[in-house]
Amino acid sequence: MSRFLVTGGAGYVGSVVAARLLEAGYGVTVVDDLSTGFRAAVPDGATFLQARIQDAGSWLDASYDGVLHFAASSQVGESVADPEKYWRNNVGGTVELLGAMREKGVRRLVFSSTAAVYGEPERTPITESAPTAPTNPYGASKLAMDQLIAGYCQAYGLAAASLRYFNVAGAYGGHGERHDPESHLIPLILQVAAGRRESVSVYGADYPTPDGTCVRDYIHVADLAEAHLLALDAVRAGEHLICNLGNGNGFSVREVVETVRQVTGQAVPETPAPRRQGDPAVLVASAERARTRLGWRPRRTALEEIVEDAWRFARGTGERS
Ligand SMILES: NC(=O)c1ccc[n+]([C@@H]2O[C@H](COP(=O)([O-])OP(=O)(O)OC[C@H]3O[C@@H](n4cnc5c(N)ncnc54)[C@H](O)[C@@H]3O)[C@@H](O)[C@H]2O)c1
Repeated sequence: MSRFLVTGGAGYVGSVVAARLLEAGYGVTVVDDLSTGFRAAVPDGATFLQARIQDAGSWLDASYDGVLHFAASSQVGESVADPEKYWRNNVGGTVELLGAMREKGVRRLVFSSTAAVYGEPERTPITESAPTAPTNPYGASKLAMDQLIAGYCQAYGLAAASLRYFNVAGAYGGHGERHDPESHLIPLILQVAAGRRESVSVYGADYPTPDGTCVRDYIHVADLAEAHLLALDAVRAGEHLICNLGNGNGFSVREVVETVRQVTGQAVPETPAPRRQGDPAVLVASAERARTRLGWRPRRTALEEIVEDAWRFARGTGERS
């Protein structure tokens, strides 16, 4: 039986991928320092080790067939206020993890990269050959990690994929989004629907989009997880495969708010707010490469289904904002 190590597997995306790996019959060890994750999110059947990726040299061994690397700090605003944290935790931590993998002979990696590496795109849908120009330290740290990984593939024969996620949403098997503070649109609007927040701020209604609000590409976390399993098979020694992961289909902020109203039956008041600096009008992925190289087909593309799953999770946990 293949065994995989999942860093950050007590977090949102990592816990879903760990659950899918277990369902597929693999052995899973989750390593997480619980800085933003939750012990209870680690799926049953996974071995759990509370540790930092910075200390990978002391806990990684040669028994793993690969690493899925989700552990990172990922709040854009915090990265602007405290960039050092992002360089230390994301880049510094990944240097230690990759070094330990090389030393122990673990030669396969799937990494969580992000659409934030592209910054404000010149055109959409965004392909992997679009210029990278991150507009905040979070995106810059992820781009640096992508480049670090590329060097390990080229020089040391690592087999790796960087999967550049667009807006991940939804829930799977009791695992969902619990960020604190929450900055992602769908859970924020659901907090309003649940009566835990008074209104949702809509930043800018004068963008060159059909209804004037920003358009983003929402991808169901279960579809995203599937791409990780496919990437584990697709990577080849010495090659760094970069794939965008999105639906290739955007929804405006107003469409998301409206869908939440329909799904929850709640009013969801909006508060108009000025545009935020560095918020592009449209961010939509071209997922063509993920289709051709991974054979990936997102199946849960309806916004209603994504919101329904997120709503079910938000009510089930009764989490507080
Ligand atoms: N959620 C999204 O929409 C999105 C979009 C693009 C990219 N990503 C990336 O996907 C990954 C997972 O995101 P998420 O939303 O699940 O975040 P999350 O905060 O829920 O999960 C991250 C996990 O990593 C752990 N962690 C952080 N630093 C660590 C360290 N040094 N050592 C060990 N564990 C550590 C945290 O405790 C947490 O459980 C991140 O790398 C993020 O940058 C997420």
